[in-house]
Amino acid sequence: MNNSPIGIFDSGIGGITIFNSIKKLLPNEDIIYFSDNLNSPYGNKPIETIKKISFNNTQWLLDNGCKLIVVACNTATTNSISDLRNKFNIPFVGIEPAIKPAAMKTKTGKIGVLATKGTLSSDLFNTTSIDYASNIEILEKNGDGLVELIENGIFEGIEIENLLHKHLDFMINKKIDHLVLGCTHYPFLIKVLSELLPSSIKIIDSGEAVAKQTKSLLINNKIENKSNQGKYSFYYNGDSASLNKVLNHKFEIKRI
Ligand code: DGL
Repeated sequence: MNNSPIGIFDSGIGGITIFNSIKKLLPNEDIIYFSDNLNSPYGNKPIETIKKISFNNTQWLLDNGCKLIVVACNTATTNSISDLRNKFNIPFVGIEPAIKPAAMKTKTGKIGVLATKGTLSSDLFNTTSIDYASNIEILEKNGDGLVELIENGIFEGIEIENLLHKHLDFMINKKIDHLVLGCTHYPFLIKVLSELLPSSIKIIDSGEAVAKQTKSLLINNKIENKSNQGKYSFYYNGDSASLNKVLNHKFEIKRI
């Protein structure tokens, strides 16, 4: 079991932001990454569809020998992780918008959350908001259109800027001081975001926290790989261009 790979899935390249954090923190671990870009985007799909997709992706990673699954997608995590944990007897790490750290640090009492419709409407997101941020104002917006552009390899330029203005201007005007990136695709926009947002707004994303959580689950379950040089396999089921782009064409990617 210790030598088995970690499995990661997302609706495309978003989870590569998580893969990069895990690879850095856990260099001994083998990783299988599955870009389910045929089903992208997940964000506007009905909850039952998101659950079914998450089950299928998990099953595929388990069939390929994975010892732990990282659901590198806020939409899939917030809508399906409790069902996944009930169905599969294996450790799961999920990702959800980092409301708690933002709520603890805000000085203006206002934080912004940019995420998919599926994440913002999920029970898990709403429970977390009540539990950790009931004394502050959360300004939330679904990032309609962003995932599609990112999946097409577009991370900057006028289309991205216009969409970001459309989604974020109202929260900037209301003086948020933290913007939580609630979708694993959005860290690809950090360069544009940091130019576009006032310097008083801090951008929060959860990549490192997910890597740390992965490490502690491996240790707690005694399944960490201590003596290996990590090997990485990448699979996709749609188009290959954006995955190759974010991997700088350095890895072989396979279509399934
Ligand atoms: N990367 C995903 C997330 O974190 C999914 C985006 C989508 O497919 O709509 O929510």
